[in-house]
Amino acid sequence: MTLHGKVAVVTGGNSGIGKAVVLALAELGASIVIDYISDEKAEVQLEAQLRGLGDRVIGVKADVSKVDDLRTLVDTAVTTFGRLDIMVNNAGVETRTSVLDTTEEQYAKVMDINLKSAFFGTQLAATKMIAQGDGGRIINMTSVHEDWPMPGNTAYCLSKGGMRMLTRTAGVELAPHNILVVGVGPGAVDTPINKATVADPDALRTLDAAIPMGRLAEPEEIASIVAFLAGDGASYLTATTIIADGGLMQSSPGL
Ligand code: BGC
Repeated sequence: MTLHGKVAVVTGGNSGIGKAVVLALAELGASIVIDYISDEKAEVQLEAQLRGLGDRVIGVKADVSKVDDLRTLVDTAVTTFGRLDIMVNNAGVETRTSVLDTTEEQYAKVMDINLKSAFFGTQLAATKMIAQGDGGRIINMTSVHEDWPMPGNTAYCLSKGGMRMLTRTAGVELAPHNILVVGVGPGAVDTPINKATVADPDALRTLDAAIPMGRLAEPEEIASIVAFLAGDGASYLTATTIIADGGLMQSSPGL
């Protein structure tokens, strides 16, 4: 499988699943634009790491919750690498707050970074892809919580539920252009978003026990799905989500 000649934008590409996605796509030969805002140092390190793969990665200072900044990312792909084939709407945050204690600010932050960025990232990427005339791939990093309540993380679940419907609806709307829109729904992954759980042995034991496979995923195990979705083998998949959760959603205490 190769992605030589393909150009991707990966939001949230300098940490967690996003970073693994950038590495997986770069290894297959894609050129990639990633955003950074919060952690310039991580971005610079990642670019240095990727230089060994051919220096086809460029970091742009962009806040993905702002449509103008998303436009800069998409435009940079075209001006630097000539086109855009793959849009990975990956950036995501959570507040671990319930419906009763989520503030307006927390709500806006989660919805803007997770859902608004995926919506406008899809719109901007699809507009370019339609102009190019030869299709494209849009991959939305959702979660098992696109469909499965996580009490105490309500705004996050809302945002992922929204991304689920974005994937389905935009997938239908864009199918005539051969632009395929697919969600990837991980369960628990060993990334900064789960740092507190991984650092707490009791919490980690409880989490592992709830997962039939008995462990969190590594970011690379999610990135490999994104790489597949970006490639030729995924030419008939759209408007759906690939859930990769080690069986988490199917498990039950047997009560
Ligand atoms: C959330 C994590 C949670 C995991 C499994 C992810 O989408 O970001 O906080 O541990 O789902 O429930």
